[in-house]
Amino acid sequence: MDLKATIASLTPSLIAMRRDFHQHPELAFQEVRTSGKLAEFLEGLGLEVTRGVAQTGVVARLRGARPGRTVLVRADIDALPIQEESGVAYSSRVPGVMHACGHDAHAAIAAHVAAVLVQQREELAGEVRFVFQPAEEIVAGARPMVEAGVLEGVERVVGLHLDSLLPAGMVAVRPGPSMAAADAFTLHLRGKGTHAAMPHQGVDTVLMAAQIIVALQSLVSRETDPLGAAVVTVATVTAGEGAHNIIPETATLRGTLRTFDSSLRERLMRRIEALSEGVARAMGGEARVEWRPGSPAVVNDAALVERFRAVAREVVGEERLREAQPVMGGDDMAEFLQRRPGVYFWLGAGSPDPAQNRPHHHPGFWIDEQALPLGVELLVRTVHDFLR
Ligand code: NI
Repeated sequence: MDLKATIASLTPSLIAMRRDFHQHPELAFQEVRTSGKLAEFLEGLGLEVTRGVAQTGVVARLRGARPGRTVLVRADIDALPIQEESGVAYSSRVPGVMHACGHDAHAAIAAHVAAVLVQQREELAGEVRFVFQPAEEIVAGARPMVEAGVLEGVERVVGLHLDSLLPAGMVAVRPGPSMAAADAFTLHLRGKGTHAAMPHQGVDTVLMAAQIIVALQSLVSRETDPLGAAVVTVATVTAGEGAHNIIPETATLRGTLRTFDSSLRERLMRRIEALSEGVARAMGGEARVEWRPGSPAVVNDAALVERFRAVAREVVGEERLREAQPVMGGDDMAEFLQRRPGVYFWLGAGSPDPAQNRPHHHPGFWIDEQALPLGVELLVRTVHDFLR
């Protein structure tokens, strides 16, 4: 078959599917419509489809004409709680929810990889297993999919993530640690509520929160080897009900810890607890830390990265293939890559003019859809290579 021609003929369907998902984004574990559309599409191709894996995930098996290895293709499908401001004609129709990370494209690309490979079934030895994973944004979808057995019999794993800051047509990948471990924390602070004009009669939880936020900044700047890598961010501060004259009894801080190294990860978790509890106690209140441990770091298999590079070189050319920098963003693709060797690569989807580009998770996030058919081609060729 002429692969490029086949992909070109599927591109209108690919773009339409991506735009449909974009207009109907769904948050983590609510991807009912999205997974329903995917399952229908994959059933239409004649694949063995299992719905409702890890609540809203979908698994589809494509068995080649002959026996062989099993390669898993992973795509995430969830959106973010962001009000879209991209201005595209097919903007989100759901207030406050947006595909601002490109998972709409990841899902459509993987579905169309299946559409191509199904036409090559006679040449395929082995199984290609497509995993459409819910709840990547809260780092909660991959683990239950693994527990549901999606890795059974799988020898190699591949997936892609778009990069809105990398020009469309470029590919970036690196062997070893590529994305950080991401752990979420919630700090529950308790002081003593009182009249805002008589602060001495209470314990000011808002001031306590502010002191803790500042104190946490020293963990990376003063306690972590400058040549190591870590992030501690407080992302949400909640206290009070909007009054001008009440010091609230409680406050909540939510944030994230990012690391590549597992012993540093452990140490910073303990230090976030000790520092928060210590500062709160010193001010006459108390702090309790609740962890939602995230996925480990994303680690690519060096040998398979070499093979992927050879594939990518053929598709985009050496000059468009980059060595990726490790990023502090986390991704629960890590759960698959921790258990099976594989590759998670970046596919450029931005403009060559950096001023046009918006980062992921930004209300103005947009992608150049030229990247989509390229993503299909890269994955199709990589699957063939990894089956070998
Ligand atoms: Ni993402």
